[in-house]
Amino acid sequence: MEKKIAILPGDGVGPEVVEQGVKVLEAIADRFHHQFTLHYLDIGASAIEKGGLPLPAKTLEVCQRCDAILFGAVGDPKYDHRTPGADRPEQGILQLRKKMGLFSSIRPVRAIPSLLHLSPLKKEKIKNVDFIIYRELTGGVYYGEKGRNADGSAYDVTIYHPREIERIARIAFKQAAKRKGKLTLVDKANVLETSRLWREIVCKMATLFPTVKVDFLHIDHAAMQMVLDPQEFDIILTDNLFGDILSDEAGAISGSVGLLPSVSLGDGTPLFEPIHSSYPQAIGEDVANPIATILSVAMMMDHFQLYEEASVIRYKVRHVLEKGIGTAELHLDTEYSCSQMGDLIAHLITDHYEMHQSISVMGERVATII
Ligand code: IPM
Ligand code: MG
Repeated sequence: MEKKIAILPGDGVGPEVVEQGVKVLEAIADRFHHQFTLHYLDIGASAIEKGGLPLPAKTLEVCQRCDAILFGAVGDPKYDHRTPGADRPEQGILQLRKKMGLFSSIRPVRAIPSLLHLSPLKKEKIKNVDFIIYRELTGGVYYGEKGRNADGSAYDVTIYHPREIERIARIAFKQAAKRKGKLTLVDKANVLETSRLWREIVCKMATLFPTVKVDFLHIDHAAMQMVLDPQEFDIILTDNLFGDILSDEAGAISGSVGLLPSVSLGDGTPLFEPIHSSYPQAIGEDVANPIATILSVAMMMDHFQLYEEASVIRYKVRHVLEKGIGTAELHLDTEYSCSQMGDLIAHLITDHYEMHQSISVMGERVATII
């Protein structure tokens, strides 16, 4: 299979984790005889620093011509105190989502059996966690008018059009019908008018999906339930801001935010990204967890309908974690750097090796650690 893939490393640890994702892409291409042509492009602070905009025209144009995008992260504290209205790195990804019509972020949250002990929650509370967050991605307060008034006050307007809600609700309902048949709409309908509109639309759509049971949770209650009983969720449907918050919380209950992949879908080229941030404190230290990015590559393979390739990636990731190997924040038996993790997983993919066989071919560094 031939595919063109846009590679957008971005800022912070983005380039480090994306490099590992690329190793895995290359290993898959090698083992299964695919041709993936990679196009490296600037976005975020690294694009601004080269004298450009957070989303350079060339980046958008090439992304539109590709079959998929692999994205790292954007953000740099250097830009935190810019004057209102000035370019910020985050605009790179926000504009890319909007311009490409990527209105639905899909963030699966599953417990990894060998890592249950990492969760701050009790094992029995998380061992069957398996839900997907459907986060609206191109509307709401992220994109409403924002600004400052002469009196020093500031505002961010939240607007949702019914069609923006319908199109993501339909995708979420379809998925719920294929799974356990439960959809939870998370909102703040006791306070926000936009939330009341979400409820109206979701109630109407529910009549088209009679096998799906719908329930409604306010965001404050949902955030609490996610900690008290995360196994109760199947499909969570929510707006842009609440989805952003719940995704990171979901990352924490599953042990590390560095484990969760995502895909953003809609009208344009699908974008695959880890849900974690740019984590600027760790730049260059080679400690970031590349698993979320590598699992995002597995989601990309699913999207290309390369199901065997996707399951090989997931299998190797699990295998490595089960052997007690992981980046520092996982506190497993053997601590690997970000790049060592990428090398190991890519190697296991290319050479069909199980861990015990790989000892002699990985060289001294790995051999002495395992
Ligand atoms: C995410 C990130 C982004 C968001 C930031 C970088 C703008 O937190 O993808 O979850 O808030 O959407
Ligand atoms: Mg986020």
